[in-house]
Amino acid sequence: MAIAQTRTLTINEEYGQKFAASGALYERARGVIAGGITHDSRAFSPFPIYVDRAEGARKWDADGTELLDYWVGHGSLLLGHNHPAVSEAVAEQLRRGTHYGACHELEIRWAELVHALVPSAEKVRFTMSGTEATMLALRDARAYTGKDVVLRFQGNFHGWHDYAMVGYQPPFETPTSAGVPASVGDTMVIARPNDIDHVRELLDAGDVAAVILEPNGGGWGAIPINPEFLEQLRGLTAERGVVLIFDEVITGFRFSPGGAQQYYGVTPDLTTLAKIVAGGLPGGAVVGKAEIMELQQFSGDPDRDRFGRVLQQGTYNANPLSSAAGVACLTQVATGKPHEWANRLGERLRNGMNDVLQRRGVPGLVYGETSTFQIVLGDWIHEAIRTSDVAALGQGKRSAAMVRKAMLLEGIDLMRNGGFTTLAHTDQDIDRTVEAFDRVVTRLQREGSA
Ligand SMILES: Cc1ncc(COP(=O)(O)O)c(C=O)c1O
Repeated sequence: MAIAQTRTLTINEEYGQKFAASGALYERARGVIAGGITHDSRAFSPFPIYVDRAEGARKWDADGTELLDYWVGHGSLLLGHNHPAVSEAVAEQLRRGTHYGACHELEIRWAELVHALVPSAEKVRFTMSGTEATMLALRDARAYTGKDVVLRFQGNFHGWHDYAMVGYQPPFETPTSAGVPASVGDTMVIARPNDIDHVRELLDAGDVAAVILEPNGGGWGAIPINPEFLEQLRGLTAERGVVLIFDEVITGFRFSPGGAQQYYGVTPDLTTLAKIVAGGLPGGAVVGKAEIMELQQFSGDPDRDRFGRVLQQGTYNANPLSSAAGVACLTQVATGKPHEWANRLGERLRNGMNDVLQRRGVPGLVYGETSTFQIVLGDWIHEAIRTSDVAALGQGKRSAAMVRKAMLLEGIDLMRNGGFTTLAHTDQDIDRTVEAFDRVVTRLQREGSA
């Protein structure tokens, strides 16, 4: 017979016990995988959760524990795990071949859907990830304008290539990763979000090719955007002949069928997409003005093709499996139904959690738009949002690990300090999450972490 427990376990102790199989897998992983993980944002102390299978809004970990999922493929699964339309399309394509080393009709159908849905998408070019998409968009913009410098915003995330590493985390002038040549930093200027005067000042000072930003605000909205700022940015860049790039890797097909640009009514010159565009399989895209995108076209003039053309390759670009998943997913997206559902649940979740904070007298805020939510505890959050204090907001995000851990003990997986609602979540899931959050907040207060 088990010895009766004489005291309640702490969050950390209970985590170690409840997810023991994940702990064992992590030990194994550390023997062969650098750092034990395959994506930096999966780093978690004392070990990350290992998942065995998923369905709808749920996934099951290595111990067989059911988890209600708000991480949902890093935001790529607007329809939830294994949506039948996507799964069947992929299964069907699997039988027909995974890689033809050739052009195929599905890639055209996929591009036609993207073109029909996204306002800025006069032309489309597929990549394999969001990182590749922002890398290509910067190259397109630099080639188009003949200028090197790109203006970006503090705390915005644009993937992990060298150019994206300058300006992501404070101190913003120092690349967030080691191994980035100092000369890369010379081609990036960093602006404060929501501050059009600062942008104007930086545009005045240099020969800027492009302005890139997450249109809902850095860190998928952790630093909320002022929609008026988007309009001002559009006006200013158009006036100066600077290419405006919306990084819609998160917001694309989520904020609306046409993404954040349709949601806010501001059309950029170029847009980067990934995640939902490929229905949860690997994939991304750069879309935008034909006259910019056509720099990628072979003209037949050897001089122009050698010196004036933008090169892009990639073995798996628009591979048949990703194309099949993309077509199936975007066909659902085009109806607008997934958004209606997921947005309503997102609002219910944010309201429910904020009610909990108020009722329990815990300072903090659960915020976000459409089907996104971010949880921050502490009364500093209101001032940080008001002043777009990127350093404080980034810190708040990183210090949310205890909320995530305590929610995992309730059988709920967040993406760091928040997540995404999907077509697969239900009202009951939201009720259950709000009830769990109530217990978590109480527990964090008791353990001195809230
Ligand atoms: C706004 C934004 N841009 C770019 C990326 C990079 O995309 P990927 O992880 O597909 O390389 C991400 C990833 O989360 C993102 O959120």
